[in-house]
Amino acid sequence: MCGIVGYIGTQAATEILLSGLEKLEYRGYDSAGIATIWEGEVNCVRAKGKLYNLRSKLEQVETPSQIGIGHTRWATHGKPEEYNAHPHMDAAMRIAVVVNGIIENYSELREELKQKGYQFLSETDVEVIPHLIAEFFKHPPSSVSPFCPSLLLEAVRDTVDKLRGAFAIALISADYPDELIVVRQQAPMVIGFGQGEFFCASDTPAIISHTRAVLPLDNRELARLTPLGVEVYNFAGERLKKQPRLLNLNPTMVEKQGFKHFMLKEIYEQPAVVRACLDAYFSADWSVGDSTNSPIKLGLPAEIYANLEQIQIVACGTSWHAALVGKYLIEQLAGIPTQVHYASEFRYAPSPLTPNTLTIGVTQSGETADTLAALAMEKERRQDKEPKYQARLLGITNRPESTLGHMVTQIINTLAGIEIGVAATKTFIAQLMAFYALALDLAYLRQTISSTKLQEIIDGLRQIPGEIEATLEKQEESIGQLAHEFAETKDFIFLGRGINFPIALEGALKLKEISYIHAEGYPAGEMKHGPIALLDAKVPVVAIATPGSVYEKVISNAQEAKARDSRLIGVTPFNHGEAAEIFNDFIPVSKVDELLSPILTVIPLQLLAYHIAALRGLDVDQPRNLAKSVTVE
Ligand code: F6R
Repeated sequence: MCGIVGYIGTQAATEILLSGLEKLEYRGYDSAGIATIWEGEVNCVRAKGKLYNLRSKLEQVETPSQIGIGHTRWATHGKPEEYNAHPHMDAAMRIAVVVNGIIENYSELREELKQKGYQFLSETDVEVIPHLIAEFFKHPPSSVSPFCPSLLLEAVRDTVDKLRGAFAIALISADYPDELIVVRQQAPMVIGFGQGEFFCASDTPAIISHTRAVLPLDNRELARLTPLGVEVYNFAGERLKKQPRLLNLNPTMVEKQGFKHFMLKEIYEQPAVVRACLDAYFSADWSVGDSTNSPIKLGLPAEIYANLEQIQIVACGTSWHAALVGKYLIEQLAGIPTQVHYASEFRYAPSPLTPNTLTIGVTQSGETADTLAALAMEKERRQDKEPKYQARLLGITNRPESTLGHMVTQIINTLAGIEIGVAATKTFIAQLMAFYALALDLAYLRQTISSTKLQEIIDGLRQIPGEIEATLEKQEESIGQLAHEFAETKDFIFLGRGINFPIALEGALKLKEISYIHAEGYPAGEMKHGPIALLDAKVPVVAIATPGSVYEKVISNAQEAKARDSRLIGVTPFNHGEAAEIFNDFIPVSKVDELLSPILTVIPLQLLAYHIAALRGLDVDQPRNLAKSVTVE
């Protein structure tokens, strides 16, 4: 949510900042701005709306400055207007600041500053920061440590001491034209090392085309970037020794590579993602009868599993849907009672403490504020309790280097690669894979599954990449055709049962978030308890009807919808018999074990949402009001 980029070096900063912001635009896109220093002045240019507005404004005022900061915003405090866009400056226009996250105590700081005569030009929480820094310079401390490397750094250190919240900051000052200061407090910030030039960014895609040598800051750290190098300090002012590491990313991974949208590219990457997860999570040489080795290689320590009585999962959005599939798998395969909570609800109304409980946080970005807060709360309330009540935290994330990665002791890395489309697709599939591995690992260790069944499921999973490829190859065009029928539709219902109920939810979420069509997912059996009142000839119903324990039930529920004149679209391997009679349209999927079906049924639903949104001419990758990672409550 929001993106930061910064540069100091020998090249003209503006283009580096703009191209960095382009790579971060998926994180927020309601306004953007950059500040550079030229001829002793800060040059700050901001624009409402997409980045191209900023780019065209800059064409008139571009300078050859070699230092600068940039920001792309997703509004939290204050409307998406130019006056609220970052950078924000002090009254003398000497200091420019960009921030990700939230300053929780901003209103009291704002009041204090107002009483001292400071005027505020925006509605944001962030504007207090340049004023606090200016205030430091107005009343500098009587003594500053002789080891203090720079007064600007000291002013920032003094300022962050007064701030509460989760934030990342980058700033420059016309009075210190060779310094770029960056701060991390629970919101990501990485520093990139080039040849005589240095970068900072809230996420690596912004700088990957310049350098792969990066140093992610840890919480409560700040750094001073100068043309001579990078110094890292903790908030206490002690210098830290830290080395950059090489990223295993290449710039093409954050390009569209010929696809019209990132979302479509990412849908097509799913077979490769499943293969990567299969290689990472399952042993290639295990076979039935091998009792010495485990077929699952998640590498989680025994303490995580010991005497496990209950699992609780916290997540938001699409990750919450993956968690629902996870619950099904864990309960059905390993027999462990599992609760799934919206992180935003759990953090304020947690369930009573239970002993020997594993808490799992699922978040592709590793930065979702509610999920992090729910995990932090769980950790805190279990502190000082007797051993069986101690917190056991596991994170399932696509970004092990994220804030989540710093917070929990154990991670399952979901290996989807960077996802740029705001609508989660390949990260969802990878989360499902993580849950298959976890549920099977638990079932294997607790001996709730026979070796033969285990082998059967793993073999089935190994077929999945090929099946997804077949679905993409055979279905994309016909789903594209089918989408034409619904370009004007106003409401959609998605039905599923059992393990495919979360996929109905996910199909509806994908459609509503990118096409702005109202869509709801229901457990098919619930329709007659109210939602059926919505149905008529204008409301199409997508029913996921895969073979297994609930097939007939879904078909009956679909019949009920048909009787109310709804157009019925079947996501099913059957186009004969009863299915042929009731479905108006078919989206064929391969016939696989019911347990594995969600990984296949979600693919056409992603495609359907994609094609409807694309036909409506919408910005598929950056839908309105959304951002890729939601770092605010
Ligand atoms: C939907 C979507 C969101 C996210 C949600 C949680 O396509 O992307 O619903 O799933 O904001 O995000 P993470 O997984 O980063 O915690």
